[in-house]
Amino acid sequence: MTLTGIGPNPLAQGLERLPVAPTNLVIFGATGDLARRKLLPAIYNLAHEGALPGFFNLIGVSRGELTHEAYREIAAESIRRFSRTPPDESVLSGLLSELRYVSGGFGDAETYATLSTALEELGAAAGEPMSRVFYLSTAPEYFSVIVGALGAAGLAQSQEFDVRAIIEKPFGTSLAEARQLNAEVLSVFTESQVFRIDHYLGKETVQNMLAFRFANGMFEPLWNRNYIANVQITAAEDIGIESRAGYYDHAGALRDLVENHMMQLLTLLCMEPPVTFSADDVRDEKVKVLHAIRTPRSEEIDQISVRGQYGPGVSGGRPVVGYREEEGVPEDSHTETFAALRLLVDNWRWAGVPFYLRTGKRLARKITEIAVTLRPVPHLAFEQEGSLGVRPNQLVMAIQPNEGVSLSLGAKIPGPRMRIRPVNMEFLYGTAFLSQSPEAYERLILDAMRGEATLFTRNDEVEAQWRICDPIVSAWSGASAALPQYEAGSQGPAEAQALLLEGHQWRAI
Ligand code: BG6
Repeated sequence: MTLTGIGPNPLAQGLERLPVAPTNLVIFGATGDLARRKLLPAIYNLAHEGALPGFFNLIGVSRGELTHEAYREIAAESIRRFSRTPPDESVLSGLLSELRYVSGGFGDAETYATLSTALEELGAAAGEPMSRVFYLSTAPEYFSVIVGALGAAGLAQSQEFDVRAIIEKPFGTSLAEARQLNAEVLSVFTESQVFRIDHYLGKETVQNMLAFRFANGMFEPLWNRNYIANVQITAAEDIGIESRAGYYDHAGALRDLVENHMMQLLTLLCMEPPVTFSADDVRDEKVKVLHAIRTPRSEEIDQISVRGQYGPGVSGGRPVVGYREEEGVPEDSHTETFAALRLLVDNWRWAGVPFYLRTGKRLARKITEIAVTLRPVPHLAFEQEGSLGVRPNQLVMAIQPNEGVSLSLGAKIPGPRMRIRPVNMEFLYGTAFLSQSPEAYERLILDAMRGEATLFTRNDEVEAQWRICDPIVSAWSGASAALPQYEAGSQGPAEAQALLLEGHQWRAI
């Protein structure tokens, strides 16, 4: 199909038109939750913004028997339901009119023969070489099967056009598995063809961390152990596990969020300024941060980590069941739904600064933020009464849902006495730019089509993340490991207090 007629939408404010080669995008797991909720709506919004190349085709691959027409219906329905903007029916039908569906097992050679024929036909119809992007959005056990089958079918390399593979998370469930998967993937593709997704990197507010740090001279002199007392990274969710018991009960909070999203936030916060913003320069600096975090020793895991599991409670004003009563969860499950860690980044810049990471399901509200607390002033000359309101400055990068940055300062309360109170200086995306941020997947799919890998995780990063998390996962997997319960809708288990060093406090969720 050609999208030349759609053109850039004059009302679109998000993704600009960047040069993208003609592309065939193949989604494995095309009828799955991720494809329906996120990928298809993201591709629709790219089409709506005029960000897709003139020649662009979508092919869905899945095991279910479906006609092209039936899959088009599923795709249209998903986009109508989940798109961030109400779909424009003419853009939608332009996008889906030639959408193809290939049904077959992910390990069957026949599936890839049918796919190959479809790709050749589409290439021939375009009359020019078309890049191929394979998006693996299946259950993780199929990643190596699909990669191997693409290699065997001769679909992974070409001299005439670019071939790329986008691989969803989780990338392995341990260091050993991540290494094995990397070895399998890199026996078929080269690293520059591989795009490991961590959708947090596609969020505007996450990328803004780089802008804040490296486009403003005022933060760099403070950005170190001499001025920063501690850093808190919170990724709290109010939702439970929804219908994902099958996946979640094997993963748990540490593997689901800490190993990937939170580690990535930590690297962006701590990295040295890269020489350029090229994929390798940025990722070289990020991986150095991970290398500076020691592998936790088994005897210290109790002191540096706390986990928890939600019990019944109230969320969004209605009573909700505890984790063990969720459908599909074994009633004696030992899976954590809350994880908190205290880590040190042992390098010249950060030595001694505690980094507190905290995530959980069924907490009081959804909030993802990074709070950087500065050291207190060395001496207060105000009389005692005035000093009471003085707090260390805090820079909070709000990733979601209120996108922005705020800086707390001590200010004098008007009046004859010298009384101080914290006030906030705030920047909010919504009011500063008057536009809706694109969904993370829009940016990431577009970048992968352009071969731009800065916002994707490199093989060495994934392995370094697992090296840090593996010993904690193992310690927690023992049947005797403590698993404090917390009430749904609360701040998490009280035990998390024990992680904080003297004078530090968790921010309210
Ligand atoms: C996913 C996790 O990677 O991130 C989910 O598997 C979690 O459990 C989700 O809910 C959170 O993403 P976001 O973008 O809503 O913060």
